[in-house]
Order: sequence, then C-alpha cells, then structure tokens
Amino acid sequence: MSKTVLMVGASRGLGLGLAKQFSAEGWKVIGTVRDPSRAEALKAAGVQVEALDIADAASVEALNERLSGTELDVLYVNAGISGSRQLSVDNASDEDVGQLFVTNAIGPVRLAKRMTPRVKPDTGVIVFMTSIMGSVETGPGMGMPLYGASKAALNHLTRTFVAELGEDSGLTVISMHPGWVKTDMGGEEAPLDIETSCRGMVEQVTRASGQGGHRYIDYQGQPLPW
Ligand SMILES: NC(=O)c1ccc[n+]([C@@H]2O[C@H](COP(=O)([O-])OP(=O)(O)OC[C@H]3O[C@@H](n4cnc5c(N)ncnc54)[C@H](OP(=O)(O)O)[C@@H]3O)[C@@H](O)[C@H]2O)c1
Repeated sequence: MSKTVLMVGASRGLGLGLAKQFSAEGWKVIGTVRDPSRAEALKAAGVQVEALDIADAASVEALNERLSGTELDVLYVNAGISGSRQLSVDNASDEDVGQLFVTNAIGPVRLAKRMTPRVKPDTGVIVFMTSIMGSVETGPGMGMPLYGASKAALNHLTRTFVAELGEDSGLTVISMHPGWVKTDMGGEEAPLDIETSCRGMVEQVTRASGQGGHRYIDYQGQPLPW
C-alpha cells in the first residue's frame, strides 16, 4: 500500500518540488493550489489536484469535507508568502500585516487542527514549513523582520498545537526549515536548488514517522534553536 501525503501549497517552488519527490518515491500525493487551471506540472507528476486558499477558513472547510474518508500518512503545510522584502513595522499597512500573519501563521495551524483527524494517529507526521528566520534566537538581524515574526508566530502556535495534542498522541510534528533555496521567494542568489532541499526534507519526514514529539529542524535534520 502506498503512503499518502497532502501537500498544501504545491503549485510551484518547494511545494511542487516536494510533491514531485514524494511522487517519485511511490507516494500518493494530493496537492493543493489556489488556481487549479495552472496545475499542469502537478498533473504531469500524477498528483491529485485540489483547490485551497490557506488564508480562507471556508476554503479549508471545503477541502476537509472533500477529503472525507482519506487517511493521511503526512500532512505537509508548505504554503507561505514573504511579503515585500522592504516590509517593516515602519512602513507595513494593517492589510500587509494581516495577510502575512493569516497566511503564514494562523492559516497553517487552523488547517492542521481541522485535518488532524485525517492523519494516522500512531505513524502520522504533520510538517509546518517555517524558516530559520522564525527563530527568536537567530532570526533577528537576518532581514525581513515581519516575515520572520510571522514564522515565529507560526512556531509559537505550532507549539501550542502540539501541547493541545497531549502527551499520549503518537503523531510526530516537525517545524521544518528548507534551507535557503532558489525559488520565487528565495531568489536567484540562494545557494540551494529545489531538488536538494526537497530530497533532504522527504528523507527527514520519512525517518520521523512513529518517533512522536515535536522538533524544529532543517532539511538535513539539524536541530535549530527556537
Ligand atoms: N525559498 C526559501 O529559501 C525558503 C526559506 C525558508 C522558508 N521557506 C518557506 O517555504 C515555503 C515555500 O516557499 P517557496 O520558496 O517555495 O515560495 P514560493 O515559490 O513563493 O511558493 C509559495 C507557495 O505557497 C503558495 N501560497 C501562497 N499563499 C497561499 C495561500 N493563501 N493559499 C494557498 N497557497 C498559497 C503559493 O501558491 P500560488 O502559486 O497560488 O501563489 C506557492 O505554491 C514557504 O512557507 C516559505 O516561507 C522558503
């Protein structure tokens, strides 16, 4: 029986790379996109395409209903935005801040809370794509302070989510930093290519199944400071 992963935010960049890597390793992949009319690459990789806007609670609800009866080995919440690189507390509008925090912090955890009953209770893995920039210890000074703050908020809410799962939960939760990767968000100057990062992340996720607990790691499995 092949394993099933729900890849949230699979249209391009790391999400598309992860969907392709899981698919190449024999997994059944369900990939979400905001615009299903632009999902040729996913369909070509044999991925089941579903529509989702992570910032829209009704859209999450609708996906949850469509997936009724589906058992997930991995729920991978990858979708995220950086906002403009120049965004700071001095110049961001309330709308900028709202969009950043709802998309990067509130939406991912809200989705995970709705979808947790679909994840296999003893071997299932839930992954949140965060960033080293979300580390309160090492993130400040790396640039993009509001983006970093939104990922710090994601990390905080993820730890609350894990605490609410309780100590008896067999689920494994990972807060994953993909490395600095050449994507639309990472930019051309990033040192890592998508394939290297995604191969590493799939290896870490596969290895983590059944281990339980929560860890903040990078694509090579290196632990990061909160
Ligand atoms: N690249 C890096 O160096 C790096 C480093 C650390 C962390 N990360 C994190 O890794 C994740 C993926 O980044 P990336 O570099 O692949 O970025 P990307 O190329 O900009 O792709 C972002 C993905 O998120 C999706 N997305 C954005 N807003 C969404 C929404 N409201 N609902 C559903 N999907 C939405 C996008 O879909 P559309 O095509 O519809 O816009 C796209 O699939 C992000 O969470 C990012 O913060 C990246």
